Amino acid sequence: MTTIRKRKMKKNVIYLFLGIVIIFVISILGLNYYNDYKYRQTNEFKLLEKGYTKEETSELIELLKEEKIMELLAQEKDERILPLIKEKYYIESNMEKYLAFQEKNTDKSMYDIVAIVNVHADQEWYETIIPADTSLNNLVLVNKFYQLEKEYTPENITTISNWYCYGEHKGTKEAYEAFIDMHTKAQESEIKLIINSSYRDYDLQEQTYNNLKKNYGIKRADSQAARPGHSEHESGLAFDIFSKEDTSTATFKDSKTYQWLKENAHHYGFIERYPEGKEYLTGYMFEAWHWRYVGKEIAEKIYQEQITFDEYYAYYLENQN
Ligand code: DAL
Ligand code: ZN
Repeated sequence: MTTIRKRKMKKNVIYLFLGIVIIFVISILGLNYYNDYKYRQTNEFKLLEKGYTKEETSELIELLKEEKIMELLAQEKDERILPLIKEKYYIESNMEKYLAFQEKNTDKSMYDIVAIVNVHADQEWYETIIPADTSLNNLVLVNKFYQLEKEYTPENITTISNWYCYGEHKGTKEAYEAFIDMHTKAQESEIKLIINSSYRDYDLQEQTYNNLKKNYGIKRADSQAARPGHSEHESGLAFDIFSKEDTSTATFKDSKTYQWLKENAHHYGFIERYPEGKEYLTGYMFEAWHWRYVGKEIAEKIYQEQITFDEYYAYYLENQN
């Protein structure tokens, strides 16, 4: 081989090598550019760009559906979003309402914001009237928004033996039988339970409410009694329970009977319906004597979670439909 040919070959090898190096570098750069381009399309990148921290971003991606993330990306960073989503009873479709209510109530905790909106208490009481779903039987919700029809009569309404009550009383068969079980068990602890208010039809509820209104004015009437159509007593599932020796609403909260009910009623399917401290959710003053039958399983859950029936209904029933 001549020296010229050898040089030419060497040159070609160098060109080939350079060509390969250039192609390699271009490919790496291209790949990097492509990966970078792809990353910029991700929600992670876009959320970080909006100002969410790395931690917030991964939580949002984990907790939210794609369409909700899109909504978030269409607006400025909102510090309230993540704390709201992380609340146990957060309901996605209520987000706008939570934000609107929080704006006017900056002193309230996120728990309260979620609870209040879930039970519709961000509105005035009785502002919206929703037909009560009686097909839910023991789980029907009756409150200041959910209304029973004037003609509604619960099925299996049964007269309560005067062994268990003062006056004439009725309740649904299932609630009454559960009460009998509870009454029997309470007796073992020398607690003598007695019913002194139970099923009321629409007219009786109207009379009860109107009497209070006439005597004490609308504000007090509304804190103590439901307007007709809105009382759990019309469902046949609520009993006002006292002790045989004492039926005073003034002292009942301090009685051992109330304490016994608080600790045991859920085993028989009853829940405390208007607890102390939850007036802002129920709309009623604390009523230590008003117990509502929901069945054992749900009573246990409500007892464990320490929530009102209104909150239970909003999150576990309405939200799942
Ligand atoms: N006292 C309860 C709230 C009622 O009237 O149903
Ligand atoms: Zn009652």
